[in-house]
Amino acid sequence: MRRKLAAGNWKMHGLAADLAEATALARAHPAPTVDVLLCPPATLICRMVGALARTPVAVGAQDCHASVSGAHTGDISAAMLADAGACHVILGHSERRADHGETSAQVAAKATAAHAAGLVAIVCLGETEAQRDAGQTLAVVSEQLRQSLPESADAENTVIAYEPVWAIGTGRTPTLEQIAEVHDHLRGLLPDPAIRLLYGGSVKPANAADIFAIANVDGALVGGAALKAADFGAIVAALEAAEGGAG
Ligand code: 13P
Repeated sequence: MRRKLAAGNWKMHGLAADLAEATALARAHPAPTVDVLLCPPATLICRMVGALARTPVAVGAQDCHASVSGAHTGDISAAMLADAGACHVILGHSERRADHGETSAQVAAKATAAHAAGLVAIVCLGETEAQRDAGQTLAVVSEQLRQSLPESADAENTVIAYEPVWAIGTGRTPTLEQIAEVHDHLRGLLPDPAIRLLYGGSVKPANAADIFAIANVDGALVGGAALKAADFGAIVAALEAAEGGAG
């Protein structure tokens, strides 16, 4: 059975004072029955790892470079993230694909580097609204999956996050049927059927239970609602309830 995962992506949010939200989350969920992960900006990784020591909440990063080291001003390697205490890294988020022109081939190279450093790669994919309107959703995510996953991907070192671009930060989500359709489709394409599939895009306490009841949804990658311990904690609780129901 695939262990469920609630992952929070803080994006470019968070100063030292916000570590209190992470510690409040850990206090409220001292023994979660699902995996819980927070991915703060790189500047907070070390301090969050310290603040969450001896708690079950893991810490991840939001991107890495494909090389181990080198003349790449401003970039951070997977080995450096692991050295800082991160255990996961989000790769190929649509904001990086859009803002930095990241291609799926580059995402695969980064995932290879993440695996070599011992990090779990959370590989993101998802269609734009225009692609969905044109009926291209399954073709787009299939191609992104095929090109973004490296040879080394297995259920231990890789998680996939389906995040429709138009649902990110908008408060809009696909219908439950649409989420199920994409997740069922992706499950059939995975090189290892035990790889976990997260849904991301406007997951909130109010819609989490419905989304987590979908068979091939193994958790969520949460943006805005992961910034507050109360909201993310409610999503963790909904995922625990879904796991209880399934198990
Ligand atoms: P929101 O939950 O804010 O829509 O963001 C989703 C996301 O991009 C997580 O990576």
